[in-house]
Amino acid sequence: MGHLVWALIFSLYFDYSNGKEKAEKDRLMCNRKHTRSYQIYCGGPLVAAVNLHMLYNDSKVFVDKPLKYSPEVTHMAYMKHFGHLELKDINPVDLKSFINDHFLPVGTDITVCVPDDWKPFPKKLMSIKDPILRKWALKVNEIWKKLCKQVHPKVFEHPERYSIIPLKYKFIAPGGRFRELFYWDSYWIIKGLLASEMYETSAQMILNLASFIERYGFIPNAGRVYFLERSHPPLFISMIYEYYKATKNETFIKDLLPLMEKEFQFWQNNRSLKVSIEGKQYIVYKYSANSNIPRPESYKEDITVNVLSTTSTRAQEQKLYRDIAAAAESGWDFSTRWFADNRTLLTIETTNILPLLL
Ligand SMILES: *[C@@H]1O[C@H](CO)[C@@H](O)[C@H](O)[C@H]1NC(C)=O
Ligand SMILES: *[C@@H]1O[C@H](CO)[C@@H](O)[C@H](O)[C@H]1NC(C)=O
Ligand SMILES: *[C@@H]1O[C@H](CO)[C@@H](O)[C@H](O)[C@H]1NC(C)=O
Ligand SMILES: *[C@@H]1O[C@H](CO)[C@@H](O)[C@H](O)[C@H]1NC(C)=O
Repeated sequence: MGHLVWALIFSLYFDYSNGKEKAEKDRLMCNRKHTRSYQIYCGGPLVAAVNLHMLYNDSKVFVDKPLKYSPEVTHMAYMKHFGHLELKDINPVDLKSFINDHFLPVGTDITVCVPDDWKPFPKKLMSIKDPILRKWALKVNEIWKKLCKQVHPKVFEHPERYSIIPLKYKFIAPGGRFRELFYWDSYWIIKGLLASEMYETSAQMILNLASFIERYGFIPNAGRVYFLERSHPPLFISMIYEYYKATKNETFIKDLLPLMEKEFQFWQNNRSLKVSIEGKQYIVYKYSANSNIPRPESYKEDITVNVLSTTSTRAQEQKLYRDIAAAAESGWDFSTRWFADNRTLLTIETTNILPLLL
């Protein structure tokens, strides 16, 4: 992206607080109750500075880096070095050396693994008659070994130093920059695992997601703290159904029933509304998010959308950021179905739409 656009971004970002409509308080991507590191990973000045100075091409790199020291020590050190400066006046070289002094390399919070129940030639796949399709299925089967991840044991000692949320069991990640457990992606991953006869790994994927419901009352978009103010399409119950169809394990369903109900309550309480049409009341659902700032893992992209869009007040910007996060909750990020003009992301209005799919 050209320097001109970035200059524009800097200038707009720093005067954006004088709108007429009443703005809300900033709602970060996680809060003090979720984690002590909310000011590092979920919003705040450090993530803004890193992204405005474009230290990393991929915004997600910074928020996936583990801390060397406690979040409080790191935040105070940042404020001491840079707190008196406007973000645009921070020297990027100094900022980069601050990051190197206080953070560890990305990826050091997880280990790779081999799923315990993986086998090279699952019977179900070997029974595929077409040799080309069978070869393809066996290739997919190989991928489970590449995408198997486990939260590093160090994370359990100092969870506040990591954006990754500790999980007991191994899991299959979507891959690439998505190194953590994702909610609706897991549904299709589990269908694949079941085809590979990996019943134990499927159960463990489900149990990891269940642990989010126990801890937070719902399943976040994915297993990092900066995903804690939004969910993903609700497929938890469907995953358990797929597992049941393949295994007929009724104990598993009975054990998880209270958590299925608890997650359902989240959608009832936090994402439903009543509409009345011709005197009849209907309960409908929509995607939303509690946050109103750029997503830390896509910070530059979200600010760019704001700059290029027609928002002119702080309140409009907050609505835009919520609509972007809500589209991420929908899993359809970014489909034209969420755009007021049916064409451009700049007109996104996810929270104005009642999707029949939900
Ligand atoms: C960022 O991307 C540019 C262009 O693709 C590349 O030249 C540069 O090396 C990248 N920088 C980093 C830090 O990865
Ligand atoms: C069925 O689920 C229970 C836990 O709910 C588990 O202990 C058991 O191992 C499962 N049975 C099989 C055959 O996987
Ligand atoms: C759901 O809504 C309740 C208030 O109705 C709120 O206290 C709670 O934090 C919300 N939960 C999530 C995960 O957004
Ligand atoms: C967007 O598409 C819908 C459905 O096809 C249509 O009803 C609506 O008029 C379109 N809106 C614009 C601004 O083109």
